Amino acid sequence: AVKVMIHFTEYLKEETIFHLSAEIESLKNPQDLSSSPRLDELREENAKLKYRLNILKRSLQEERTYCSKSMMNINQRLQEVFGEAIRASCPELDNPPLAVTPNQQAKFGDYQCNSAMAMAQMLKAKGIKVNPREIAEKIVQNLPDNELTQKTEIAGPGFINIHLKRSFVSKLLSNLLINGVQPPPLASKKRVVVDFSSPNIAKEMHVGHLRSTIIGESMSRLFEFLGHDVLRLNHVGDWGTQFGMLIAHLQDKFPDYLTVSPPISDLQAFYKESKKRFDEEEDFKKRAYQCVVRLQSKEPDFIKAWNLICDVSRREFQKVYDCLDIQIIERGESFYQEMMTEVVKEFEEKGLLQLDEGRKVVFVPGQPIPLTVVKSDGGYTYDTSDLAAIRQRIFDEKADVIIYVTDSGQGTHFQVVFAAAQMIGWYDPQVTRVEHAGFGVVLGEDKKKFKTRSGDTVRLMDLLEEGLKRSMDKLKEKERDKVLSQEELIKAQRSVAFGCIKYADLSHNRINDYVFSFDKMLDDRGNTAAYLLYAFTRIRSIARLANIDEATLRKAAETTEVILDHDKEWKLGKCILRFPEILQKILDDLLLHTLCDYLYELATTFTEFYDSCYCVEKDRQTGEVVKVNMWRMLLCEATAAVMAKGFDILGINPVQRM
Ligand code: ARG
Repeated sequence: AVKVMIHFTEYLKEETIFHLSAEIESLKNPQDLSSSPRLDELREENAKLKYRLNILKRSLQEERTYCSKSMMNINQRLQEVFGEAIRASCPELDNPPLAVTPNQQAKFGDYQCNSAMAMAQMLKAKGIKVNPREIAEKIVQNLPDNELTQKTEIAGPGFINIHLKRSFVSKLLSNLLINGVQPPPLASKKRVVVDFSSPNIAKEMHVGHLRSTIIGESMSRLFEFLGHDVLRLNHVGDWGTQFGMLIAHLQDKFPDYLTVSPPISDLQAFYKESKKRFDEEEDFKKRAYQCVVRLQSKEPDFIKAWNLICDVSRREFQKVYDCLDIQIIERGESFYQEMMTEVVKEFEEKGLLQLDEGRKVVFVPGQPIPLTVVKSDGGYTYDTSDLAAIRQRIFDEKADVIIYVTDSGQGTHFQVVFAAAQMIGWYDPQVTRVEHAGFGVVLGEDKKKFKTRSGDTVRLMDLLEEGLKRSMDKLKEKERDKVLSQEELIKAQRSVAFGCIKYADLSHNRINDYVFSFDKMLDDRGNTAAYLLYAFTRIRSIARLANIDEATLRKAAETTEVILDHDKEWKLGKCILRFPEILQKILDDLLLHTLCDYLYELATTFTEFYDSCYCVEKDRQTGEVVKVNMWRMLLCEATAAVMAKGFDILGINPVQRM
């Protein structure tokens, strides 16, 4: 129906234009200007057409608002409406600035359009002097008829305060309750590669890898929720010269490794031992080099040894992934071996390689350092594997978006890799989005590098286990062990521990360094997972305590209008509906803390509402429920639904009871 209407609208527009040009044509002949009955006829015809066009536009808008299952991005819709008005008000500007933002203070309306000031500046630069207030007035006059704005006011130097229609907000809330939390409409489905976690074999997975794992997973979930096709890749460091010494040591320590699986319980210690021998024993060192060569020429026994070592690491990594609920495809550096040879050849053939003291390097104009693609001993490097990986992702995986999640220290490496890939013509940044999402380092509470008391690096599993212990202590402190079953208690413990670790990371701007503190993250006041998880279970329990079952709520969603007369109802309703605009913003800047801030705001807005609006009224004496304000129960439901979806994107598992 929408399509048909669009066609019809287009047709009517053309017809209008046709008649208008006839009118103009007749105006060229001034004699028949006032007296022409044909002109009057045309005017009347034109007015009718305009009227019909408006009716059609309106039903199109309504269809879009009320019949679509996806959640509307109100901010974006306002930008469309205001964009039209802004362009009409200022044809002198080719690219007038479009600024619509939600308003925190209710007295200034629900949203605000601040374009007029910037437009006045731009006009001034062109030598046209206009008062921004006048521009704001023009914008308001040119606002097209639309489904969502109730009224606008001009304030101060030229702000336009926008008030939304209550019926519109109420209707969107009903839609949300009926359809569930659905993503906004998808313009085009993208193939997205997220390269994250990526620890190194035989080395300990450290807190930097923890950050990468948490952030990368959450980004993947966001892209997925918005309808994209996501490939999670674990670019583990599983290739390189360190394997020579590891294999040489393995041969000595477990000579029957080919038939019996060696019981390496501590690969880290094993790595240290072999490194020590490598540095101290000349013979060992020689043998280690031979082992690398034999591994790279794929001798079966060496491949077997390499696989054994990788397996030990893999099992360790898996423990972390199981805790954090991560499913990721392992595709380490070794996957790209053959491709690295091709990549070097391609650079060589295109004349982009230079020799530098026996190394082969690639200089990219404008970049601070060259990439080393072949070392003087003929081996490949981290640069070579990343060039091979980006090429494979673009051409074989057909990626439209590639995101690398590592610490910011690797920023230059990626910048040069991306520049080299563009230089050789593998991708155009206008078409393919390739981005390094860097993050700061993890600090201890003393603001120094995160270390154990004895100064060692903190093992991830120890950290996660400590989190579990602390979260259990906290639950017991609150005497939750007295009300929850053993099974519920364990569930709550894991949910709180891992939820808090993830949330603490995600709720800080990833660019900054971040201070790891169990005390802070487990605090149930402030912007923490502990607070939000409690808030969420509380909201969920409102209906349960009033004996309202899901079926009743579902029925109510279809039959009960969500009334928004009370200030706090109105504030909460609008806050709930901001979810899609938050997600779309994160899609642009990949800053997930915006989602945490939003969820925290939603939870506190809910508390304000709940403190001043009765959802269920009880008899003071008996405690019996005497009245249920169903539309408010629906507001509780909508809040919980959005929170649940937010948790899901953050990778946090809420529990029913805690
Ligand atoms: N293994 C690397 C490290 O531990 C991270 C790899 C990131 N991904 C990549 N394509 N370079 O630092």
